[in-house]
Amino acid sequence: MAERLLLFATTARGTEDLLAAELKDLGAKRIRQDRGGVRFLASLDEALQVCLWSRIAMRVLYPLGEFDAPGAEGLYEAAASVPWEEHLTTHHTFAVDATLKDTTHAHSGFVALKVKDAIVDRLREKLGARPDVNTRDPDVSVVAHLVRDKLSLSLDLCGDPLHRRGYRVRPTAAPLKETLAAAILRAANYTGEEAVVDPMCGSGTLLIEAGLIARRRAPGIARSFAVERWPGMGPRARELLADMRADARRNERKVEVPLLGFDKSDEALEAASRNVKAAKLFEEIRLSEGDATHPLPVPEGGGLLVTNPPYGDRLGSGGQKGMKTFYFKLGESLRSLQGWRLWVLSGNPAFESAFHLRPIARRDLWNGPIECELLGYRAQGPQWAMEREESRPHANPTRNSGPRPARSETTLGPAHEPSDVAPMRPQHEGEEDA
Ligand SMILES: C[S@@+](CC[C@H](N)C(=O)[O-])C[C@H]1O[C@@H](n2cnc3c(N)ncnc32)[C@H](O)[C@@H]1O
Repeated sequence: MAERLLLFATTARGTEDLLAAELKDLGAKRIRQDRGGVRFLASLDEALQVCLWSRIAMRVLYPLGEFDAPGAEGLYEAAASVPWEEHLTTHHTFAVDATLKDTTHAHSGFVALKVKDAIVDRLREKLGARPDVNTRDPDVSVVAHLVRDKLSLSLDLCGDPLHRRGYRVRPTAAPLKETLAAAILRAANYTGEEAVVDPMCGSGTLLIEAGLIARRRAPGIARSFAVERWPGMGPRARELLADMRADARRNERKVEVPLLGFDKSDEALEAASRNVKAAKLFEEIRLSEGDATHPLPVPEGGGLLVTNPPYGDRLGSGGQKGMKTFYFKLGESLRSLQGWRLWVLSGNPAFESAFHLRPIARRDLWNGPIECELLGYRAQGPQWAMEREESRPHANPTRNSGPRPARSETTLGPAHEPSDVAPMRPQHEGEEDA
């Protein structure tokens, strides 16, 4: 393999710019954002730093090529043209994972099978024997992505996707992916120096990711990577990663800021507690029962309040009207917290108007198949609450989806945020040379 590798890291759509910025911090060069991922150039050393340290990337792929692959025969021929003998031996196991978009093939399994057959046949011809397939724990993971008749083939440096940090031992309904939680914290410019509160913490993902940042802990410290088992590059990768892991452990630091989670569900708190323990952040993160539509005992001095309220589709909601009332009450409760920055990921289009606070930053992003908005706010403090109290009775939240009244505009402060928030919308194309 060449001295510098041209790699592609995948990420949730709408977070490409955040991943690009993180990759730049990790030493990547020639960074180019694409839809759902970022291309970059890295030495083996830098590529391994990305595997160990990227909080946002889901996979790190080493592209082998892009081919025209019409029909079943085209698929086979395209896959057979790759020099697999450079990447696999007869003693290493492999598996093929296929994804499809706009193709005439009905099943990804069929595409994976064709690619697998081509690999096996080529290696039998070149090496006189074939490697075994191991779909559960392969040494070499081949990723096939077919869009119409264009087949991309890559090797996955990570194996298990990077969101599997190893701490999610007890999920709840609708947990965020760990990598998406990290992207949200990066969008909120969280660097580990502020208190964090998640008033609806569910299984605790946002808090745990904040804890890892505050602890300066490498998100991949507790796992291994497929590249460590690759023929050729494996031994060098193992050696480099052993040093990187030791460095990472040495450079961890004590968490000096409060990290607090609330939820009204016992089941969610139980799951969060187990996950926090598995993440070895039991002393750093405090969890309590609480209702976010009522004042919560948050620490003085402010910080980052970040959360992912129920969207109303999967969690049972009492209908859209019930959700609007819930969001309105949430807005009433959270906006009066003096000195707090609020960041909310919502997948319910009714959230923004019902929450009734003017965002100072926003971005569209995808939480799996759900299109969401990430909204940034600055809480107004008790002064706001007093003014609201004086002007009661206030409007019915379910009817309050039109433009804000002029008085609110002045009360709610600046429309454009000063220095501590990320740009209003992600850039979609662009190249950076570090
Ligand atoms: C979408 S889930 C949060 C998922 C979380 N980010 C995770 O990664 O696991 C929403 C959470 O809000 C909680 N919740 C709903 N209403 C609440 C309320 N009034 N006060 C506190 N928590 C509430 C639910 O119990 C659920 O755990």
